[in-house]
Order: sequence, then structure tokens, then C-alpha cells
Amino acid sequence: MMCTATTSTPNKNIIATSIQRSRTKFRLVTFLKLFLLKALCSLVVINVYMATQISTVPQLENISLSMKKVMHLKGGDEDKIALNNIQDQRNNNEQHQIHTAIINHSTNTIKDDKMMITPNAQDGTLQGKERLWTILQTRNITQVNANYWASVPSWDTILRNIHRSKNEEEKNKHFVDGGGGSTPPTLPSPIIHGLETCSTFQQQTSINPSQRRIAPAGLFNTGTNYLSVLLEYNCQNSHRVSKFHGNAKRGHGNEWEVPWGKHTPASFRRNYTKSKIKKYEIEEVLPIILIRNPFSWMKSMCRNPYTVRWKGMHDAKTCPQLKYAMDGTSVGNVDEEYNAINVSYGPGPSHHKSLGHLWNDWYGEYLYSNTNNGSGGTTTTSAPFPRLIVRFEDIIFFPYEVTQQICTCAGGILGHRIDDKDVVNGTFHYVVRSAKAGVGHGPASQRNGLIDSWVRYGRDNPKDEYSESEIQVAKEILDPWIMETFEYG
Ligand SMILES: *[C@@H]1O[C@H](CO)[C@@H](O)[C@H](O)[C@H]1NC(C)=O
Ligand SMILES: *[C@@H]1O[C@H](CO)[C@@H](O)[C@H](O)[C@H]1NC(C)=O
Ligand SMILES: *[C@@H]1O[C@H](CO)[C@@H](O)[C@H](O)[C@H]1NC(C)=O
Ligand SMILES: *[C@@H]1O[C@H](CO)[C@@H](O)[C@H](O)[C@H]1NC(C)=O
Ligand SMILES: *[C@@H]1O[C@H](CO)[C@@H](O)[C@H](O)[C@H]1NC(C)=O
Ligand SMILES: *[C@@H]1O[C@H](CO)[C@@H](O)[C@H](O)[C@H]1NC(C)=O
Ligand SMILES: *[C@@H]1O[C@H](CO)[C@@H](O)[C@H](O)[C@H]1NC(C)=O
Repeated sequence: MMCTATTSTPNKNIIATSIQRSRTKFRLVTFLKLFLLKALCSLVVINVYMATQISTVPQLENISLSMKKVMHLKGGDEDKIALNNIQDQRNNNEQHQIHTAIINHSTNTIKDDKMMITPNAQDGTLQGKERLWTILQTRNITQVNANYWASVPSWDTILRNIHRSKNEEEKNKHFVDGGGGSTPPTLPSPIIHGLETCSTFQQQTSINPSQRRIAPAGLFNTGTNYLSVLLEYNCQNSHRVSKFHGNAKRGHGNEWEVPWGKHTPASFRRNYTKSKIKKYEIEEVLPIILIRNPFSWMKSMCRNPYTVRWKGMHDAKTCPQLKYAMDGTSVGNVDEEYNAINVSYGPGPSHHKSLGHLWNDWYGEYLYSNTNNGSGGTTTTSAPFPRLIVRFEDIIFFPYEVTQQICTCAGGILGHRIDDKDVVNGTFHYVVRSAKAGVGHGPASQRNGLIDSWVRYGRDNPKDEYSESEIQVAKEILDPWIMETFEYG
């Protein structure tokens, strides 16, 4: 389309002022004419542009929503203690993704992006999301942005995505039949490994129970900080509380991390301590190990690798690239090798065959016992020392159940802190919103919350981000016993 308006060149010799005055007048008229013409042209252009847009408006639209913008909070919504977010993230990119909810507008069309609702049974907005709404209500949230809420996956979808056992029978263990037999199972339970070691822990600390501690550990990006916050709010060692008359400075029995460092391999449990100040013995701490579906964990490592280094780690398309061709070309041939990785820990570096092998090796040290009695070593699935292994997925979707079991295991009492004024006395303190603080964890202005996590970690099967051949390579690497035990299969 042609639409141009050019101004005629002004006259050269202007002598008399009168002439000048009339010229000015003429110029003004010309200018107005041209202005109108231009405006008209612009309108036509805009119309044509809009017409093309209307005919090609995609079915799927992305809407960026942040917690800040969409949630109406009454009273003290901020979790005031310094804590890091659920995923140990420090990457802006990932932050952005967390704040972004993808909404299928063909199914959930709510034109007003600012519309707030109170989810309810009458219009169906509550259906399948009752659990999350109940949690949010304990934090005085009364309304939520309609589109944001629509992006929350239903409980049923979440359960399918976090219990991925190949074995149907195994899987159904975690569901309680709705009663009628034909009703689909709806009440699952979290997977907590190592509960048989609780009594050993309590026994070995029975002489001085006020010294008992609970401390998280786990690979990078597995929610260790989030768990320590949940425990800090909700679990107390009553012996310790009464001994120190509730003095919060002495702590209520929860530590930020295990003494050998939360990311440090378990083999350093007795060989390395992060802090110079020794407050308690190794046997006095119950480590809670966070494990995460390796398919989602590896992608998370690609976005935020911390101290892990491997070839091609920055190539978002191919990362985690568990194998690479030796000639640097295709992947999927015989001529390929595992993509070796280096990790640097507090006590020193470590090497693994691939990112998948790191996952096996690291969790293997917490899961298996190695006995070498001279006639060859054996590996068993009996616990090397008292500890619990808890899933990242379960602390997001079952924070209450998981916290309760951990607390009870360590001889603690699930209970509200006297100094915690953010929730009503006697209720569980759900961490709805977390502010990033802590060293190396990005600016405090970056936040995420429970809804973001439910959308992000519940909506999809983590395997969907991988190709068939990538899944094959991963399956060849990932420890089948660990995969099945935690239903990551
Ligand atoms: C929507 O998301 C897709 C995939 O992430 C991206 O390619 C596209 O540019 C986004 N569109 C808008 C309008 O943001
Ligand atoms: C939450 O709401 C209840 C009842 O309206 C109120 O008593 C309580 O103080 C509120 N809590 C906060 C932290 O605002
Ligand atoms: C969006 O909704 C349409 C119609 O229900 C459906 O065909 C499409 O698969 C949906 N897309 C996504 C990404 O969920
Ligand atoms: C820790 O120390 C024990 C014995 O003192 C030793 O057998 C073990 O190899 C050490 N582990 C590491 C990772 O250095
Ligand atoms: C890992 O460390 C070894 C030796 O410390 C080094 O030769 C190798 O290049 C490192 N690999 C990567 C991917 O950083
Ligand atoms: C060493 O361990 C193996 C396997 O657990 C066992 O069969 C064997 O009897 C043990 N040997 C000794 C000397 O304890
Ligand atoms: C909170 O509950 C505990 C135990 O039920 C009780 O002892 C305490 O006085 C309560 N505190 C307040 C402020 O109501």
C-alpha cells in the first residue's frame, strides 16, 4: 500500500515581512492538510494491520502474571524471615518463567486480565483445586486473579504427573479408593523413604533429646531452603523449647543444613564440617534428603547449574546432553560417550560420568549401604544411617503431611510457634510467598509463591521436555531402583 505525503520545498527569497506573514499562513494551512492526510493514512494502516491480526490471532496466548500483581492479600502476607525460594534459583530467566502462567484462551477466556474471583463451587472455579484454595485461605487470601487461577492444574492432573510408576499396583498404593470401587482414586500420599530409621534416631539421641536437630540436604535445585522454612515455622523440639524457655535464638531444633553442607556428598558426613562452631554431634542431627524427578531436575540444572560444569551446558536446546558424539556431530550412534561432569563441593571437586550419573551417585550415598568386609563389597538398600528421603514434589503438594512425618520422626511436635503472628494460633503455617534473600540467591525483589509452584511443577509430565532418544539415554543411566522407589519411572 502506498501512502506518502511530502512537504513541498519552501520558497527561496522572502523579502517583505507581509509576504512572510502570508507565507506563514500558507505554511500553516499546508501543514494542517498534510497532518490530516497523514493521520488518515495512519488510520488506514492501523486498520489493515488490525485486520490481519484478527484473522491470525493465535488460539494460544501467553499471559505474564506475577504474584504481586494478581494476589489480594490481607494483613501480613510477607514471610518476614530471610529465606530463599523454593528452588534455590538465582537465574532471572527462570524467575521470569516462574512468574509466567501460560493460559489456553480457547478454553479459559476471561477478557479482563485484572478480574479477581473467589473460587467457588457454583461456577466450577473451585473444582479440582479445593486443596490449594484451602491452603491459601489459611494465609488470608480471599481473592485471586481469574486467569491466574484458571492456569492452576487440577489435583487429578497433578497426581498423574507426580506419581509415575510403571507398576500400577505400586502406584495405587498411594491412592485411597474413593469408596465406591468404580470411583477413581483421589487421595494420594507422599512418598517418604526411611521411616524405619526414626526409632534408631530417637534412641541414639534419647539421653539428651533437647540436642536433637533436623536439617535438610539435597542436590542443587531440590527445595532444601523451602523445607527448612517449613520446618522452622511448624516443627519444634519440645525438649529444647522448654529447656531454653522458648528462646528463639537458641533455635527450636531446626537447622538450615546438615553440618557437612547440604549439597556435599554423604561420604563426607564425618570428614568435613562447613562451620567451625560445633553445636552438636553428627548423630544428633536427622538429615532430611530432598530428591527430585531427575527429568525435571536436569532441566533445572541446565538453567541454574551452580557449581556443576559439563560440555554443552549452556545450549538450552540440547542440555543436559547426557551423551555426545566423539566427532562432535550426531547423537544417537555407537560412537558416543557419556558427557562427563565436574562438581565443586566445599571439601573439593568430584567427577561423574554424566549429569544423570551425578544424580545416581549423590543419592546412592544416602540410600545404599556399602559393606566391604574383605570378601568383596556389597551394596544393600538398607539405610547407611538414620535419615529420611523426601521428594521435592511432595513438599510442594503435601507440605503439611511431609512436615508432620518428618517432625514426628525426629521426636518433634508439629505446632505453631508462639512468636509466629502470621497465622492463626493452632494452624499450619503454609509458606505461600517467599522472598529471596540469602547470599547468591538474587535480589530480594524477585519472588515466587505457592500458586506459581503448583502451576509450574504440577501441570506437566517432566519427561515431556525430552525427545524419545534422550529419554532412552536417560533410562539407561538412571538407577532403576531409585526411579521406581520414588515413582519417577
Ligand atoms: C508465547 O510463548 C511462545 C513459546 O514460549 C513464544 O514463542 C511466543 O513468542 C510467545 N508469545 C507471546 C505473545 O508472548
Ligand atoms: C487473618 O484473618 C483473620 C480473620 O479475619 C485475622 O484474625 C488475622 O489477624 C489475619 N491474619 C493476618 C496475618 O492478617
Ligand atoms: C487449548 O484448547 C483447545 C480447545 O479445547 C485444545 O484443542 C488445545 O489442545 C489446547 N491447547 C493446549 C496447549 O492445552
Ligand atoms: C571419610 O573418612 C573415612 C574414614 O575416616 C574414609 O574411609 C572415607 O573414605 C572418607 N570419605 C571421603 C569422601 O573422604
Ligand atoms: C573436569 O576436570 C578435569 C580435571 O580436573 C578437566 O580436565 C576437565 O576439562 C573438566 N571438565 C569440564 C567439563 O569442566
Ligand atoms: C561379607 O559380606 C558378605 C555379603 O554380605 C557375606 O556373605 C560374608 O559372609 C561376609 N564375610 C564376613 C567375613 O563377614
Ligand atoms: C495458642 O495455643 C496454645 C496451645 O493451644 C496456647 O497455649 C496459647 O496460649 C495460644 N496463644 C494464643 C496467643 O492464643
